[in-house]
Amino acid sequence: MSMKKRKEPAVIYSQEKIAEGIYSLWIKTSFAGEARPGQFLGVYINNDAKLLARPISICDVNKEEGLLRMVYRTAGEGTKELASYEPGTEIQVLGVLGNGYESALDTDDLNKALGDKKVIVIGGGIGIPPMLLTAKALDKEPEIVLGYSNGDLFLEDEFEDVGNLHIATVDGSVGTKGTVIDAIKEDEIEGDVIFACGPMTMLKAIKQYARENGMKAYISLEERMACGIGACLGCVCRTVNKDHHTHVNNTRICVEGPIFDAEDVDI
Ligand SMILES: Cc1cc2nc3c(=O)[nH]c(=O)nc-3n(C[C@H](O)[C@H](O)[C@H](O)COP(=O)(O)OP(=O)(O)OC[C@H]3O[C@@H](n4cnc5c(N)ncnc54)[C@H](O)[C@@H]3O)c2cc1C
Ligand code: FES
Repeated sequence: MSMKKRKEPAVIYSQEKIAEGIYSLWIKTSFAGEARPGQFLGVYINNDAKLLARPISICDVNKEEGLLRMVYRTAGEGTKELASYEPGTEIQVLGVLGNGYESALDTDDLNKALGDKKVIVIGGGIGIPPMLLTAKALDKEPEIVLGYSNGDLFLEDEFEDVGNLHIATVDGSVGTKGTVIDAIKEDEIEGDVIFACGPMTMLKAIKQYARENGMKAYISLEERMACGIGACLGCVCRTVNKDHHTHVNNTRICVEGPIFDAEDVDI
């Protein structure tokens, strides 16, 4: 199933600010036909001073039109510059990167692999965007739990169309006051499998919750990355078991991940 990674030009189709510091970007690219839930692209900034690609998750695709969407936060200089690009601007992208949920579950048919199992899709903060494509890929409507810091929500209306939406905000302005785990408890959400992306504190809490409740959790570790193609080892994470090839308790998040069975990684 995996195709050769390549760097190629893409053209910005549209760019829209959807919340404070959050942008929705559609690009026209041949990668749209290959993108799987949980995968990401390396986006190059048109500036010689910024040589490394910025890893950004795939949020949605429109295969017919050859369009792919990324929703990102302006974190530093690179993403700030990206946010200034107008439709029609050409950028370079490296794709398609990462294993995705299907590969992490060792399947090429997510729905067949899940069978009757009930899925809870969880996104926290800037980990929310990749969960849209993931939720859309499921045949059966999942329970969806999104965690925001405050009432400046984004993408919630689109998630509402694909599943049963629950919201948690740290300041309590919308939904459950607290974390995604607080929302799961308050709304008595049940499930067998969790798919999640978000900050490390959230992923740790989800690992613990899944373990206590006999659930399987697949989590996306969006750690700091540099090359994105397995060459620099800038993204290694400790694993519970030794790697079959290298015989060390390390894994490269950019190649073997970013999606892992929570019980396989030491977080
Ligand atoms: C697999 C993966 C998926 C991601 N998906 C998204 C997404 O969908 N939306 C989103 O807003 N952000 C996402 N991120 C985080 C995003 O990559 C960083 O916010 C972005 O690279 C920051 O770049 P910058 O130039 O603005 O910041 P700077 O701090 O100026 O970046 C400097 C360097 O650090 C790297 N870097 C900085 N922060 C991060 C970070 N958190 N993770 C990885 N590399 C970083 C950059 O690639 C760059 O090489 C993802 C990260 C990973 C690893
Ligand atoms: S980012 Fe270079 S090996 Fe993963």
